[in-house]
Amino acid sequence: MRGAPPARIVDDIEALKREAGIAACSFVRSGMKLGLGTGSTVRYTVLEIGRRVAEEGLDVTGVPTSEATRELSESLGIPLLTLNEAGELDLTIDGADEFDPNFDLIKGGGGALTREKRVAEASRAMVVVADDRKQVGVLGAFDLPMEVVASDWEDVRDHMARICPGEVRLRGGRAPYLTDDGGYILDCEFGPTISDPESLQSQIRSVAGVVDVGLFVSICDAVVMSSSSSVRTLLKDNGRLS
Ligand code: A5P
Repeated sequence: MRGAPPARIVDDIEALKREAGIAACSFVRSGMKLGLGTGSTVRYTVLEIGRRVAEEGLDVTGVPTSEATRELSESLGIPLLTLNEAGELDLTIDGADEFDPNFDLIKGGGGALTREKRVAEASRAMVVVADDRKQVGVLGAFDLPMEVVASDWEDVRDHMARICPGEVRLRGGRAPYLTDDGGYILDCEFGPTISDPESLQSQIRSVAGVVDVGLFVSICDAVVMSSSSSVRTLLKDNGRLS
């Protein structure tokens, strides 16, 4: 007896990351200047771009969002520019820690949020690669990261303690995590309460000593999302890719 084909089941998280990362390369065309994100999902995008450069003659230049991505890209032979040299980019592909129904994001789990935001803001479009664990109704279950000037971290922590309903922690504790630019990261436990990320971003950015916060508001245009049953591209209504 013939029935429906067996459902596609992918349970392995690493496989989901790989699928989303590679699928997002369908947005990449020769001639593009690309923002190359940071993290364990977009790593697969960078690997695939490197493969296409080496094997298919794909002609792109990349602007890495971290030293880790710069090293990986260089090892793959992807030609690189600084953001200053590149000017406007065609597209940034990056991971996210959460995305909400408006395609607003929490980023910075890997500590690269400041460079990630500069690169994404300089791009004509942004695609996020993620598995479905990152899809939320309201942002904030993932602790919100922010980069702060190292010497100001205690003042910023005290200020944030008045804004944030939960704990505010210095990443790394007694051995603070250092960003590529020498900043510290505070992780802020908001819980799933961030229903107005734009106003929270403004509030946090106005605190002296804050370099930037991992809220990406009205920047992301599409999410390539893998789940155990499919890989889907979610396009933002009226986004720059729809
Ligand atoms: C890096 O600073 C982050 O913004 C990452 O893009 C984000 O944490 C997602 O990373 P993963 O793909 O490793 O979950």
